[in-house]
Amino acid sequence: MQRRELIVASLATAAQACVAPSRATGTTTMEEKRRAPTLFTAGTRGAWRIDHVIAVRGEALPAAAYLDVASRWEPEPGAAWALRGTVSSGRYTERREKAPLDAASPPLARSEASRACLIPLTKSPAWWALTQDERRAIFEERSRHLSDSMRFLPRVARRLYHSRDLGEPFDFVTWFEFAPEHEPAFDELLHMLRSREEWTFVDREVEVRLTRATG
Ligand code: HEM
Repeated sequence: MQRRELIVASLATAAQACVAPSRATGTTTMEEKRRAPTLFTAGTRGAWRIDHVIAVRGEALPAAAYLDVASRWEPEPGAAWALRGTVSSGRYTERREKAPLDAASPPLARSEASRACLIPLTKSPAWWALTQDERRAIFEERSRHLSDSMRFLPRVARRLYHSRDLGEPFDFVTWFEFAPEHEPAFDELLHMLRSREEWTFVDREVEVRLTRATG
């Protein structure tokens, strides 16, 4: 079996495991709809054109022409790869941080934000062996992930998807949108975060740069 087929096959198995009860009856329950993940499918169609794929750390993802973003479980046949994630509750943001973060965060799908970046990443077993308070200390007190990223808002719109508990190949899928003139600022943001202690726990990271293909 090709590596591409393996990825899709393992994703399909994970999806079936998660929705097995109603897949058996062919119906979609309200609970299933509520939990439907966002599915990022690379292939021959989609609202985003893939400009390039960079393996930042570890194995890359296969090349493809377009990325489709949809709320469903299973990719169409022939996908080069597909990644799932769900929007989950916050783990590290403290009450006093939440209000300024929410106020500064722009929505997705702004008309001027014609560039996007998809970054799936996996953290190491050492990270997951830490306790919640130890992870928070690395994430914010020592790496300043949130406080030092604030100055990039509202130029960059973002959404974090959790994938680890879905049995996906990556722990997280992160999504960013920005106008072309803010791409240098986005590059600076990436450079900053990757230089911090938190990123010493990143085992695999892939960067997929995109341009909006449809209006
Ligand atoms: C505008 C810039 C950014 C802001 C304001 C921001 C903010 C945040 C916040 C508040 C969280 C914690 C969510 C929670 O409470 O659980 C978080 C988590 C995360 N962010 Fe960012 N972020 C930014 C950019 C980035 C970038 C560029 C990347 C990837 C290269 C990234 C990757 C992640 C990941 C993977 C997590 C989950 C960490 C974990 O749970 O271990 N972020 N971010």
